[in-house]
Amino acid sequence: MWKMLKINNILLFIVLVSFFSCCTVKATVSYDGRSFLINGQRKILISGSIHYPRSTPQMWPDLIQKAKDGGLDVIQTYVFWNVHEPSPGKYNFEGRGDIVKFIKLVKAAGLYVHLRIGPYICAEWNLGGFPVWLKYVPGIEFRTDNEPFKVAMQGFVTKIVNLMKSENLFEPQGGPIIMSQIENEYGPVEWEIGAPGKAYTKWTADMAVAQNTGVPWVMCKQEDAPDPIVDSCNGFYCEGFIPNKPYKPKMFTEVWTGWYTQYGGPAPHRPAEDLAFAVARFIHNNGSFFNYYMYHGGTNFGRTASGLFVTTTYDYDAPIDEYGLLNEPKWGHLRDLHKAINQCEPALVSTYPTVIWYGKNQEAHVFKSESGDCAAFLSNYDPTYSAKVTFQNVQYDLPPWSISILPDCKTVVYNTAKVSAPSSQVKMTPVGDQLSWQSYIDETPSADDSDALEMNGLWEQINVTRDSSDYLWYLTDVNIGSDEGFLKSGQDPLLTVVSAGHALHVFINGQPSGIVYGELDNPKITYSSNVKLRAGINKISLLSVAVGLANVGVHFETWNTGVLGPITLQGLNERTRDLTKQKWTYKVGLKGESLSLNTVSGSASVEWAEGSLLAQKQPLTWYKTSFSTPEGNDPVAIDMGSMGKGQIWVNGENIGRHWPGYIAKGSCGDCSYGGTFTEKKCQRDCGQPSQRWYHIPRSWLNPSQNYLVVFEEWGGDATGITLVRRTR
Ligand code: GAL
Repeated sequence: MWKMLKINNILLFIVLVSFFSCCTVKATVSYDGRSFLINGQRKILISGSIHYPRSTPQMWPDLIQKAKDGGLDVIQTYVFWNVHEPSPGKYNFEGRGDIVKFIKLVKAAGLYVHLRIGPYICAEWNLGGFPVWLKYVPGIEFRTDNEPFKVAMQGFVTKIVNLMKSENLFEPQGGPIIMSQIENEYGPVEWEIGAPGKAYTKWTADMAVAQNTGVPWVMCKQEDAPDPIVDSCNGFYCEGFIPNKPYKPKMFTEVWTGWYTQYGGPAPHRPAEDLAFAVARFIHNNGSFFNYYMYHGGTNFGRTASGLFVTTTYDYDAPIDEYGLLNEPKWGHLRDLHKAINQCEPALVSTYPTVIWYGKNQEAHVFKSESGDCAAFLSNYDPTYSAKVTFQNVQYDLPPWSISILPDCKTVVYNTAKVSAPSSQVKMTPVGDQLSWQSYIDETPSADDSDALEMNGLWEQINVTRDSSDYLWYLTDVNIGSDEGFLKSGQDPLLTVVSAGHALHVFINGQPSGIVYGELDNPKITYSSNVKLRAGINKISLLSVAVGLANVGVHFETWNTGVLGPITLQGLNERTRDLTKQKWTYKVGLKGESLSLNTVSGSASVEWAEGSLLAQKQPLTWYKTSFSTPEGNDPVAIDMGSMGKGQIWVNGENIGRHWPGYIAKGSCGDCSYGGTFTEKKCQRDCGQPSQRWYHIPRSWLNPSQNYLVVFEEWGGDATGITLVRRTR
């Protein structure tokens, strides 16, 4: 008997030990068909995206606090491979790349993290987050069943997971990371490429799970996400989304709070009422995790914005604006929504809803738990008309396209279309004295320069620059015989240059002869113009300009940039001369870049003009000045309204590409919140520069003597540039 007891005790001990070891290590974050569970507790998780490299470490604590005050539980971020591994095996986790610091700040604020490792991230980020060197790994093909790619991807994922583990950042280790993401929206690619895509998905899932992070993995827009990976939905609305297994929670990884801006396009705006409606609709349809993409969009500093002309601002019309100020009423309206959802949480997580249909456009979703909790969502999907519904013998008025939330099934605490948060108006107020500028005009280089490369034919731009600069010169000579008919007739020959993009300056014998650039979704360009040539040798200099590399599309790594031809001269005695295959000389970057004119020390290497000699409206001009930091704490911006296109540096930090010369085309009509939203609805600022103001983070400023450099491609009026203070 005693022996029996002892054996039973030992067995019990073994069972208990294995139970706890299983569950402290593995099951701190789990899920089922209703929700995620953290340490056994069911949660409706409210999340928002803040991308750490799109703001400065000095801004992070305030952004995170504002997210917490706005009612978020989770901060979601991608991991930016090209920030962390700029060259193979050389890692950077400093400054805006200090991901560990960012995650620790989120933890200190008491919030969780959803870490989207990717490492493909899309995100309107240069090359979708991939380092440019990855393109040149022999035999590589991105995002498919390709050995070199898989080796590189696994290497980076493992590097990040190990970094997180070594800092104890996963939830079972006491850290804030409750889930991760592998890949990003791979489903549509897999669908297009078929078998290798399927194999890659399986490999990806196995590789991720084998990392043993102790928290669930998510694959967004991936209907066949293998178990135990959770599939999830991205979009403006996701109420109809159904996870691929009944035992997976319904997750909305990207509720788009607005949209990104492109040069040439207007500023997107998503009304707060519609955004709240989309979230409430998702929640009343069993949703249990949603994430605002973006909650703070921030800035594409430097050359980080992706191709297809994504602007330097990544404001996104997010609840916190680019500068870190509250975008009201959106922020407040969502905070109120989150309070209402939190009040409903006990009922929401303990049951599935029953739905009452009142007709085509009205419903009630009722969550009644066994323990007596009751929460109801009364909805009116009619985009234009309000409606009355009777629920539990009480009549409720529902504005068009709205949902009322009743956390006790009686009292309406929130309606998605009734905004009580105050609105805020953006003000950009000029500050400081008139800036006093000096200028230096860059040069069309000579083919004899020691760093020029001579090659036959036309070369793809990124292959030559490896994206070390936006700029690549293509130089060639054209010999014109003295017997050419056009020299007498005066009918100048026609030069045609076909380029894969994204912008192009043409110089003939050092004289500017035109600028062309791509538009919105079409980066390809053709220059075609009659040009002045003389008898003898003529110098044709083409400055090809990249404006960020594509971040999306099947095999976007194969997209070309630069002048690939054909290049022809028409109207000669021989009719047409093809210049495509002749000798071309290449020079990477501008002279001013190689001299580091963006730094104080570099700027001493050239003579600058000032006063009456200051360059006015001249292409390829560098401008420099210094300024004192505006007083107070309001965010600072630079008004570039008088300029065309180029880049800006403050104290050596690259603020980003400016392109106020690109005027927004599109329709910016009335905006009603009712009805299905798309990114083309409710746009703003048509006929204005797509981006006029550029954020200068205060932490990059000294009290005085801030060194400001502008490189202007087109020619602008630098005396029109002013510093401004942003308030709302
Ligand atoms: C999603 C993608 C995000 C971002 C977004 C548009 O499809 O996952 O990374 O690109 O579109 O802003």
